[in-house]
Amino acid sequence: MASSKFVKKLTSMAIVGVGGVAAFTGISFYNGNEKFYENILMPTIQKVSGETAHELAIFLCKHNLFPSSTLKDPESLKISFFNHQLSNPIGIAAGFDKQGEAVENLERIGFGFVEIGSVTPQPQPGNPKPRVFRSPLDEAIINRYGFNSLGHAVVFENLKGMKERQRFKGVLGVNLGKNKTSENALEDYSKGLRLFSPIADYIVVNVSSPNTPGLRSLQSKKELQELLTNLLKIRESLPAEHRKPILLKLAPDLTKDDVNDIVTVVTNGSSKIDGLIISNTTIGRDDLKNETFARETGGLSGLPLKLKSTQLIAEMYSLTKGKIPIIGVGGIFSGQDAFDKIEAGSSFLQLYTAFALHGPPVVEKIKSELDGILKEKGFKSIEAAIGLRADGIFGSIFIQNKM
Ligand SMILES: Cc1cc2nc3c(=O)[nH]c(=O)nc-3n(C[C@H](O)[C@H](O)[C@H](O)COP(=O)(O)O)c2cc1C
Repeated sequence: MASSKFVKKLTSMAIVGVGGVAAFTGISFYNGNEKFYENILMPTIQKVSGETAHELAIFLCKHNLFPSSTLKDPESLKISFFNHQLSNPIGIAAGFDKQGEAVENLERIGFGFVEIGSVTPQPQPGNPKPRVFRSPLDEAIINRYGFNSLGHAVVFENLKGMKERQRFKGVLGVNLGKNKTSENALEDYSKGLRLFSPIADYIVVNVSSPNTPGLRSLQSKKELQELLTNLLKIRESLPAEHRKPILLKLAPDLTKDDVNDIVTVVTNGSSKIDGLIISNTTIGRDDLKNETFARETGGLSGLPLKLKSTQLIAEMYSLTKGKIPIIGVGGIFSGQDAFDKIEAGSSFLQLYTAFALHGPPVVEKIKSELDGILKEKGFKSIEAAIGLRADGIFGSIFIQNKM
């Protein structure tokens, strides 16, 4: 038993080793060629476990081995993000660079901004492996990492080192989680807010991961009100230059009542936050083709999440009357997906699964396609299209599904 485990591990390491060399050589030669990624590199990576593939991608990013994007971001994609200017609205979502080690290369790949984490105060290992599953057939991932984090202190040092190198010029978000065994969620988020505010451009309160027991109940009215009111008070006590925008990341599996409660809280004076991220992964398993995959527990992301997250964006945009900026995330694979999220009410976008399954070229592809769609429809900027269909097709589907 133990020896078969050892052989499996050795095989996996050999594949990663060969894969790593192949990737490095390939990347050096093909420099971002979409077909190379689609036909050679990504199928090779599919052969190793989901987590090993993730580790390999982080390794390549950390050592700046992914080639820089050659696309100059089109003018139409420029947008202001709180007090910053983004050359494009597409960020890498939380969970890819959990420990803040790959920020610079992620910007060079072409992401408009980078969110790291989730990070927990104390280091914790997360759930037992295997805990990441891919289904290329469904264009989806299920993960139950359970906040594997090196903890605040190590992640802070990683980010400090990155800032000192002065290569990263972009916008950095730090996504905060809580320790599995912590009984005081407020204390965990407060520690993160105090520590990372001087170094981050925005802070995310993640109360929506399905893999930490009890976490999502922090989205309920009373708990959310208390959490956000206290965090906002703490922010007020910080030096002015350290008071950063606070965003709340939501789950897609909310009832109509949950949604109304959240709107009341996030638009109310003492708990009024600066933005929403919609959405995290879903516990739903609708329309999956791969049945073995569908039986894994954890959060589902990618294509099967797309409409659900777009509908929640539309609902939130309508109910908040467009007054709270939304980062739209969930199943963005193309320029059309990105445009749908914008018309539903997103000002900014993020992705993870498309990047994990298709590699860096997908970022350029989405940006070019989005620019094409904006031009074709006669929009000079993203701003002009935000929320145009929140009350139309996307909003109405959401309401139908809920009834
Ligand atoms: C493997 C994996 C790990 C993730 N870890 C986190 C996390 O630590 N914190 C978080 O807020 N979201 C996490 N997410 C959710 C993503 O940030 C994103 O909200 C979700 O995957 C939907 O986007 P996508 O369909 O483009 O992947 C994770 C997603 C994946 C696939």
